[in-house]
Amino acid sequence: MTFPAGHEPPAFDPTVPNESRMHDYLLGGKDNFAADRQAAQQAIELAPELPVLAREGRKFLHRVVRFLAGAGVRQFLDIGTGLPTQGSVHQIAQAVAPDCRVVYVDNDPVVGVHAQAILNNDPLTTVVQADMRDSELIAGHPNLRKLIDLDQPTALLFFHVLYTIPEDDEVALSVARLGDLMAPGSYMAISHPVSDLCPEVTARIAHLYQQQTHVIRGEPRSNVRTRAEVERLFSGWDLVEPGVAYLTQWRPDHEAIEASRPIWSVGGVGRKAATGSPAQE
Ligand SMILES: C[S@@+](CC[C@H](N)C(=O)[O-])C[C@H]1O[C@@H](n2cnc3c(N)ncnc32)[C@H](O)[C@@H]1O
Repeated sequence: MTFPAGHEPPAFDPTVPNESRMHDYLLGGKDNFAADRQAAQQAIELAPELPVLAREGRKFLHRVVRFLAGAGVRQFLDIGTGLPTQGSVHQIAQAVAPDCRVVYVDNDPVVGVHAQAILNNDPLTTVVQADMRDSELIAGHPNLRKLIDLDQPTALLFFHVLYTIPEDDEVALSVARLGDLMAPGSYMAISHPVSDLCPEVTARIAHLYQQQTHVIRGEPRSNVRTRAEVERLFSGWDLVEPGVAYLTQWRPDHEAIEASRPIWSVGGVGRKAATGSPAQE
């Protein structure tokens, strides 16, 4: 498969730290190598709360997907899926409504291979290997076309992935291009680390991730934004309550919050207004 110039997938090299495998390690997974563990440990030394942040990110994902399936959404497009972990989008959505269809998109071929292996027998879930900046490629992909009708409301999910695009204009464009392809009544969810709470820690972590992923992609990657910048990504969407909030404060349920230090990541859900109908909350 040919990828647009500059959007080539990360090469597989177990000696070089990789975003999805580092994230897997932070979540307590087993799909990682020594280089990933070493890089993740360096990050944990700078911010011991990182594993909790990753887990709170997954809990946010659970609450959002349950909310969306409960609101009647039956199509999910999960951008920047990551390596399979317990409670993936299709499992959560299909537990609410078994007819939910889920398309996973990730640019990392290793994620694609793992996901394909666990999804082989699931006719309602599939994987597309693509860069999130290639909206046309994603929307036109035969795997997506088989499961998702873009004329119907769809949940567009960006969980802890937009920070991998450092340029603000490029991230806004990527979100807007995919968002524009969604039908009225669709929802968009974003979670994103932010610098508002502890700017020094987050700057050091962003620098570390830039250094590590620089080796993989030949360009500096990763950026933490401010909460206001994340809010702006929802331009044109009606935010559901409570708006863009710190993850642990977005419609918390009765799960224990593990954080001893503040969790410096925010999340929100927006709805694309259906003509003439108010935002659903
Ligand atoms: C930190 S993980 C997040 C995983 C999961 N969404 C979660 O919240 O637990 C980020 C994922 O985004 C993927 N990714 C990074 N840049 C991407 C891009 N430009 N297009 C698509 N996927 C990307 C990485 O390969 C990785 O699997």
